[in-house]
Amino acid sequence: MKIGVLISGRGSNLQSLIDATAEPGFPAAIALVISNIPDVYGLERAKLAGIPTRVVDHKSFAGDKAAFEDALHAELSAAGVELVCLAGFMRLLSAGFVNRWHDKLINIHPSLLPAYKGLHTHQRAIEAGEKFGGCTIHFVRPAMDDGPIILQAPVPIIAGDTPDTLATRVLVEEHRIYPEAVRLIASGRVRVDGERALVDQNK
Ligand code: GAR
Repeated sequence: MKIGVLISGRGSNLQSLIDATAEPGFPAAIALVISNIPDVYGLERAKLAGIPTRVVDHKSFAGDKAAFEDALHAELSAAGVELVCLAGFMRLLSAGFVNRWHDKLINIHPSLLPAYKGLHTHQRAIEAGEKFGGCTIHFVRPAMDDGPIILQAPVPIIAGDTPDTLATRVLVEEHRIYPEAVRLIASGRVRVDGERALVDQNK
């Protein structure tokens, strides 16, 4: 399965996908990496791995979100992408784009959804006295951080945790479950039924 990865920054989750897809027998390959921000380190990671990259800079579309998303769609389609992976892509995608990639667009979010949608997830979880933070891989729907949950990993919140210390431990789990979710989807083990993702772990 050809995947496209959308990034906005350092691309550590992209790196976990690069590493996984390099393993023999992995059922997906990265066809294209797109960043909406020029010169981010994630683009370097892709180039070092010999993966084609594009910059589709939202700022060059003068607020025309539909045109920005049309450009993203055109690049992904031209590369033959079958599954789009948002990996720290920090632009909200509108219903037009999301519906064109229905059940073919996944995201990683640093909380146990549906708790803590949006930003500053670790800080908010610590302040609320939660005992667990974590991360979620989900199919994308038009509402922010919404959609059928594919995989989650809980991470204990321990005394003295700061948003940074928690983020570091959650990131370890992000890098484990994102490639795993792609592997499951690319091997046909995930289907969506009534807005719930059913994962066949035993096939
Ligand atoms: C990751 O922690 C990811 O879960 C988060 O941004 C970080 C990107 O790091 N995504 C979101 O907050 C999306 N709402 P990375 O660039 O090193 O992969």
